[in-house]
Amino acid sequence: MSGPVTGCPAVLITGAAKRLGAAMALEFHRQGYDLIIHCNDSLQEAGQLAGQLNHRRRNSAMVLQADLTREQEVATLARQAPLAFGRLDVLVNNASAFYPTPFGQVSGHDWDALVDSNLRGAFFLSQSLAGCLSQRQGAIVNLLDIYAEHPLKNYPVYSIAKAGLAAMTRALAVELAPQVRVNGVAPGAILWPEHEQDASAIAAHQAILDKVPLGTTGSPGDIAAAAFFLAARATYMTGEVIRVDGGRRLNL
Ligand SMILES: NC(=O)c1ccc[n+]([C@@H]2O[C@H](COP(=O)([O-])OP(=O)(O)OC[C@H]3O[C@@H](n4cnc5c(N)ncnc54)[C@H](OP(=O)(O)O)[C@@H]3O)[C@@H](O)[C@H]2O)c1
Repeated sequence: MSGPVTGCPAVLITGAAKRLGAAMALEFHRQGYDLIIHCNDSLQEAGQLAGQLNHRRRNSAMVLQADLTREQEVATLARQAPLAFGRLDVLVNNASAFYPTPFGQVSGHDWDALVDSNLRGAFFLSQSLAGCLSQRQGAIVNLLDIYAEHPLKNYPVYSIAKAGLAAMTRALAVELAPQVRVNGVAPGAILWPEHEQDASAIAAHQAILDKVPLGTTGSPGDIAAAAFFLAARATYMTGEVIRVDGGRRLNL
């Protein structure tokens, strides 16, 4: 399945159908990149986003679907992505499952769902795509979390997975230098989880905001700008993480 050769740099963003992934897709596209929008369940939203981008610039976006907890689907995604536009310049590992796993009640299924979507998929995708990225002197950007360094109570498996992704950022920076730079963005409170809508969740959100020195949530555009900077502008940075958290890490 080879797609159009446009001459533009190309980026694969995992979990890009909506929320922060979609904001990064819009930013890279605005900066002249062709987009491979990866999704799992959100095929309809991914298709709409691709349609919007293709309307702005013909043949500039395409959708690939894969469950990153399934090894075969990760392998297929890694095979298809470089063919989409005949090159791959940037990989953004953004996809992530996020839900509480109170210690004492964690199942093997929880471990696999959280670690495989946040870490294992990102690792094997990076390994499979390293050759293509090297050819373009490319970059990998991993979406971390301030909770990688300061674990979130009742979310041990998610926190461990993100800590692993932070370690992977440093390890692959060493493995892939000098051809590919590998960096991370660690968001603080940007978008609340979609399912957290009830009164207790809203109170919990306010309690978090009370501890954010800048006093408010960040915007998806803040994350997109940091990710684009690391991917395309930060030519002497590798193995580094930019925290975009309104100062939250200073007041946990
Ligand atoms: N939102 C925040 O304020 C915040 C704060 C700190 C860190 N972060 C990090 O920033 C990144 C983006 O945040 P977000 O809130 O926009 O993420 P999100 O909405 O929770 O998840 C992004 C996407 O990940 C995909 N995904 C989940 N499990 C998957 C699987 N098994 N296989 C393939 N894709 C899977 C989903 O794609 P489908 O919908 O297509 O299934 C989902 O839309 C994440 O890595 C997150 O941990 C976000």
